[in-house]
Amino acid sequence: MKTLTNKVAAVTGAASGIGRALATNLAAKGCHLAISDVDEPGLQETASLITDAKVKITTHIVDVADRDRVHQYADDVVEQHGRVNIIINNAGVGVGDTIEDVSYDDFEWIVGINFWGVVYGTKAFLPYLKKEPEGHIVNISSINGIVPNPNNGPYCATKFAVKGFTETLRQELNGTSVGVTVVHPGGIGTNIVRNARIRKGVNPNKTHEELAAAFDEHLVRNTPDFAARTIISGIENNKQRVMVGGDAKTMDWFTRLFPVGATRFVRYITHRFSS
Ligand SMILES: NC(=O)c1ccc[n+]([C@@H]2O[C@H](COP(=O)([O-])OP(=O)(O)OC[C@H]3O[C@@H](n4cnc5c(N)ncnc54)[C@H](O)[C@@H]3O)[C@@H](O)[C@H]2O)c1
Repeated sequence: MKTLTNKVAAVTGAASGIGRALATNLAAKGCHLAISDVDEPGLQETASLITDAKVKITTHIVDVADRDRVHQYADDVVEQHGRVNIIINNAGVGVGDTIEDVSYDDFEWIVGINFWGVVYGTKAFLPYLKKEPEGHIVNISSINGIVPNPNNGPYCATKFAVKGFTETLRQELNGTSVGVTVVHPGGIGTNIVRNARIRKGVNPNKTHEELAAAFDEHLVRNTPDFAARTIISGIENNKQRVMVGGDAKTMDWFTRLFPVGATRFVRYITHRFSS
């Protein structure tokens, strides 16, 4: 997509973190916004950060795990903005537990948001995107969609699934006016760990807050603003895949060169930084 000025972008999970930074950075490029989240106060706060009167912004309370609600969101965006050019399926959550012990309730919760939310967002917006001269779908996976880490199995499963889903979609839409990008961020300083359902951290002696602090201290490498700018550049250059941060790029190469060694290395790093 050559320019974002006067385009219309829908962003899920825009009340916090990467979604909020995507909203403010897209607005800075003159892109109109239809932002959504389940967190209404957070969403209003994001909207209040956008002060450019030339940018039209609408807010939508949407649980991405609710298929009908996501389809209604797409309809509402087109009704309120007249069109839509970009959907960024960004909303996501975490679960800390082993695969052996994780409850089906937690597993279904994360799959509903991280995987089905992406599927619904893609299928609901795609017919509208195809009507425009230029359209783009961005699905947020993770470095955990390339290499796993222990006590994070449900999250990794959803993020590997988002990668496969999105890369297939890109093949299928090749030659159309709709670009497709899968994004693999490394450690970004957001609320992702604080908002997660931590049942069992890698270190059982640490509280949820201590694990979140360990994530912030040892694994966060970049800001949400940096992530947003990298993702937006991926849209402008119609990239198939976007790695966010040196940590993600390094782990991607390492995993390609040493697929088995990489999983051992990540297991070691995870335990080391959690102890
Ligand atoms: N922060 C990182 O290090 C990191 C790394 C890799 C990938 N990611 C991915 O980036 C995306 C954004 O996460 P973030 O790091 O900004 O986290 P965050 O917790 O700061 O933001 C996530 C947002 O999603 C919203 N959300 C949660 N459940 C929802 C639902 N059912 N429907 C709609 N919205 C919902 C939350 O309210 C929140 O505003 C996620 O997909 C996450 O998996 C983050």
